[in-house]
Amino acid sequence: MSRIAVIGTGYVGLVTGVCFADLGNRVLCVDSDRKKIETLLRGESPIFEPGLSELLTANIQRGRIDFTSSLQSAVDQSEILFIAVGTPQNPRTGEADLSFVWQVARQLGRVIRSGQNRTVVVKSTVPVGTTVSLEKRIRAELARRKVRAAVTAVSNPEFLREGSAVRDFMEPDRVVVGSRDAKSRRKISALYKPLGAPVLETEPESSEMIKYASNALLAAKISFINEIANVCEGVGADIMDVARGVGMDKRIGAHFLSAGIGYGGSCFPKDTEALVYIAGKGGVRSHILESVVAVNRAQRRRFLDKIVRFYGGRLKGRRFAVLGLAFKPNTDDMREAPAIDIIRGLVKRGAQVSAYDPVAMSAAQASLPRITYAPDPYAAAQGADAAVILTEWNEFKELDLRKLRRLLKHPVLFDGRNIFPPRQLSELGFQYISVGRAAVPVLRSPQKRQRSRA
Ligand SMILES: NC(=O)c1ccc[n+]([C@@H]2O[C@H](COP(=O)([O-])OP(=O)(O)OC[C@H]3O[C@@H](n4cnc5c(N)ncnc54)[C@H](O)[C@@H]3O)[C@@H](O)[C@H]2O)c1
Repeated sequence: MSRIAVIGTGYVGLVTGVCFADLGNRVLCVDSDRKKIETLLRGESPIFEPGLSELLTANIQRGRIDFTSSLQSAVDQSEILFIAVGTPQNPRTGEADLSFVWQVARQLGRVIRSGQNRTVVVKSTVPVGTTVSLEKRIRAELARRKVRAAVTAVSNPEFLREGSAVRDFMEPDRVVVGSRDAKSRRKISALYKPLGAPVLETEPESSEMIKYASNALLAAKISFINEIANVCEGVGADIMDVARGVGMDKRIGAHFLSAGIGYGGSCFPKDTEALVYIAGKGGVRSHILESVVAVNRAQRRRFLDKIVRFYGGRLKGRRFAVLGLAFKPNTDDMREAPAIDIIRGLVKRGAQVSAYDPVAMSAAQASLPRITYAPDPYAAAQGADAAVILTEWNEFKELDLRKLRRLLKHPVLFDGRNIFPPRQLSELGFQYISVGRAAVPVLRSPQKRQRSRA
């Protein structure tokens, strides 16, 4: 059993804290956001993540996890201090903004006491060199205060995905631990032993780079398949078959080959841009990564253009039922969600939007205040000119499409996530427009539609 503090209780910090508690450790989660701590002290999770609430409740009941706004008490009670604060993108340069990390470094330098032996673990995604620099900054602050304490910093990037974060944490493909201090490396590696996953111990710089390179490669797969999808549209190939055929090759793998409206979220967009910046700073022009970013930005515009072109540029007075807002299913995270740009594009052209998302509607309201929110997909579709799918929630795959068709003013479905087979949709009488697949003519006659409506 180790005593662990997690500083920054967001998507990564909370999952890390709850999972380490579940593995038998004593965890104290700290956050500067008092509201978040109050919510957690009531036993509620501030975020939606499958399985998280249950695990949180169970470990609060076992007395293994607690929450505080006091970094001092967290440091006094814990030998291992995980940093999981945000590292957002600097909108001007694209580089990672480390102000939260440096703030924690300053605060740690002020609260660590003489005689304490603390391992500080960087879980946040940070540019190469940050872990070493963090250790120096904390030690410098301690020296200024004439505090004699032993502090080592370790890089331990997180690879979980929102939407399956608990499972990803508990069943990782690998754990990466980077430090030049063998004892600290062993201490952090040991925390993950119960998971039975391979642990790769490296220098801190390599560990930090592994995280960026992994995200960049996954983002590159998405942009690559989206570019191939755009080519498919021009030549009559079907991207779903193409991706399946390509993904069957074990050297390539089937994951991250879903064509659509591109990646979003709090990681891929900022981490790819941060790596472009890191490369540039090191004198390397990253042609591949620049293209990955550019293709991704263009992909959501391209989908919006499809809708605009379908109506000959005249969207004024039309209403769209948008199904799905979150950047991906099983999360309420709206950061960098393609839905934001696409909906804003529709609204800017005079269209109205009624949207439905199973969990992200309240999170969406801050970025999308000018649309209406519906209690279910059918209410959103009632009287709309078309439905637009922007997140591939399983719930949408189970939609009663006949009912949807009856409710829509016109049977038109734009699918940014390719969740339906085009032929099935056209047999149901839909005009179905998706990504990377040739449009199939509507196979059901309007008379037949009229009869089934009666
Ligand atoms: N979200 C993901 O899927 C994911 C996956 C892997 C890695 N990461 C990385 O993990 C890091 C955290 O990401 P996130 O999505 O959990 O961020 P988040 O914004 O959800 O959470 C960060 C938390 O840190 C808190 N915080 C900021 N400064 C603080 C301070 N000085 N003291 C205490 N708390 C403070 C904030 O209040 C917030 O609750 C980022 O570097 C991110 O790139 C994220």
